[in-house]
Amino acid sequence: MNSAVLKRNIKKRISMGHPWIYDNEIERCETPIDGSLVDVFTFSGQFVGRGYYNSNSIIRIRLLTRKNVSIDREFFKEKFSKAYRSRESLLRNSNAVRIVFGEADGLPGLIVDKFSDYLVVQFNTLGINTFRDEIVESLVKLFNPTGIFEKSEGLALSKEGLERKEEWIHGKGPELIPFVLNGIKFLADTKGQKTGFFLDQRENALRLSSMSGGGRVIDLFSYTGNFALHCLAGGARAATLVDVSQRALDVASENASLNGWKDRCTFITANAFDFLRESDQSSFDIIVIDPPAMAKSSSSKANALRGYKELNLRAIKSLRSGRLLATSSCTQILSEEEWQRSINDAFQDSKKLGIVSFRGGQPSDHPEVSSIYETKYLKFLIYRVFGINEF
Ligand SMILES: C[S@@+](CC[C@H](N)C(=O)[O-])C[C@H]1O[C@@H](n2cnc3c(N)ncnc32)[C@H](O)[C@@H]1O
Repeated sequence: MNSAVLKRNIKKRISMGHPWIYDNEIERCETPIDGSLVDVFTFSGQFVGRGYYNSNSIIRIRLLTRKNVSIDREFFKEKFSKAYRSRESLLRNSNAVRIVFGEADGLPGLIVDKFSDYLVVQFNTLGINTFRDEIVESLVKLFNPTGIFEKSEGLALSKEGLERKEEWIHGKGPELIPFVLNGIKFLADTKGQKTGFFLDQRENALRLSSMSGGGRVIDLFSYTGNFALHCLAGGARAATLVDVSQRALDVASENASLNGWKDRCTFITANAFDFLRESDQSSFDIIVIDPPAMAKSSSSKANALRGYKELNLRAIKSLRSGRLLATSSCTQILSEEEWQRSINDAFQDSKKLGIVSFRGGQPSDHPEVSSIYETKYLKFLIYRVFGINEF
């Protein structure tokens, strides 16, 4: 086994459980093959953990364990069963769950989502990809899925020396995988975005559903209609879905049909910024805003905050008194405070008040880990909007 020795003053981050070791934190290291395992030691020779190495990444080593154990089928099986057990409560009224959320489950680079009897996996790093056979075999043993679809995609792949992959790697299944979330029928799109569905909004959408009776909803950045359909399930009269992706809206339309709600839906293929600028939303009772991540690095933070402010400002201006704004951010590098300040600014500029009716976040299948701040990314607020004089 290759080994790496950390610098004398080991970073608190590492000793407190963070799995990443950056290139400048290593005193010396044999030169292992990229993707292979290394044992990590403190400067004084104490074992820190075992992880995988990549010389092409500034995160040189990602730890898989702090114990002296083999990384084999049994190792992955144990990790998967532990993760699954902690999520079982989410399977009431639903048969979809994220089983593995990378670093937050001690498995850097790996994502596994379960949609009914199918699994969708992402191998996002070279190191985790070297264990793909062990991982697939363990998943098959534990969950006996009808099919496992690999959907490794995203900008980071090429930096890791990996190629994008979209194919069935065990068994077979449909392009659109049917599943149930909070009692609503959905399709996970194997040709769509991320793993095919955004399971992270499951609790936020359910909460909005309980507040949407009788209302008219506009779901901006709708993807395949998660929020819109939750609102319809909660008794909303009608939903308008806006997304720039025609494919997302086509699947949304199928989702609506599956539940018998297509006649209550309108689908608009548009850039949501332009749509908000060019049309009047004053007839809506609920506006949902759930854009994709707007910044990846601190240099683009200011632009992202401007974007959030613009979107929320336009929505707030058009909402009549007592109506709801459900707004979200998945930009990991923005803190909740920074993001919320941009919304507060939007309220001020529109001379309105917002009362926070619900503050959401990530469900327990996308856990936040105290020492790994990168695991926290999703922010969600439902405001009831009032004119200052109507408050
Ligand atoms: C985070 S996802 C939304 C997830 C969705 N709310 C859900 O819960 O499933 C962001 C969506 O925004 C869409 N999108 C990206 N840029 C857009 C734009 N400028 N206007 C409208 N939609 C956009 C993407 O196609 C994607 O479907």
